[in-house]
Amino acid sequence: MDETFFDLNCPHKLALLADFHNSEPAPVLASLQKNKPELITVAGDFVFGDRPKDGMLKIEENRNAVELLRGCASIAPTFVSVGNHEYSLIDADLKVVRSTGVTFLDNQWTKFEDMVIGGLSSAFFTSYKTFRANRPGKELYPKPDKSVRSKSIPPDMAWLDEFEKQSGYKVLMCHHPEYFPRYLKQRKIDIILSGHCHGGQWRFYSPFHHEMRGVYAPGQGLFPALTSGVYENRLVVSRGLSNTTFIPRINNPTEVIYIRG
Ligand SMILES: [Fe+2]
Repeated sequence: MDETFFDLNCPHKLALLADFHNSEPAPVLASLQKNKPELITVAGDFVFGDRPKDGMLKIEENRNAVELLRGCASIAPTFVSVGNHEYSLIDADLKVVRSTGVTFLDNQWTKFEDMVIGGLSSAFFTSYKTFRANRPGKELYPKPDKSVRSKSIPPDMAWLDEFEKQSGYKVLMCHHPEYFPRYLKQRKIDIILSGHCHGGQWRFYSPFHHEMRGVYAPGQGLFPALTSGVYENRLVVSRGLSNTTFIPRINNPTEVIYIRG
């Protein structure tokens, strides 16, 4: 696992974790203890998997994720946003998430010293919530139909107008980097923290772009543009903290990102 440092105009030292996917918390927590960030952001996909087995809460199948969040909250104030893998979390799951001491931001913002921190939830989470609420029956985690998963559904952005108007350095956790060109580029937000792409899984030098590039990313397809590093001086894309497929990561170490002023 790499520790990657970026110097941006951020007033506090911030750690960015993404795509933990219920993997191994110890190396991540050791890095945080060593580097002592003033705040920690978790930009989605801390859990892994689809709907849980009958009788289980999804969060009960993700004990390492709970351990990670609890560990983060004991190190520094921790802010968490929602990725696509969190889509099925119900109130009982979220109660456990909040009990770890983190601040969970589902299309919401909060203040931290001279910063304003928001969490833009994956559209899948928002659309599934509506789907579940409109469904008859008491099934906790009903199987979503295809329309709920559609990539053309936009996230809920209504709250961003108010977020943008706040004074202070604005940090937006947004799991999906592909939302940046579609929905966020014109907005006055200082930094946007994302993940989701796992670095493009395989990374090779591109003679066309004169840099390392990923091969595939969900939401961006083949030869994606936004998979690792800083774009336009404000979109930060983490390569993530795990591997969730049988296909190995190549030239693509996992990472914790630290952002300094
Ligand atoms: Fe994701």
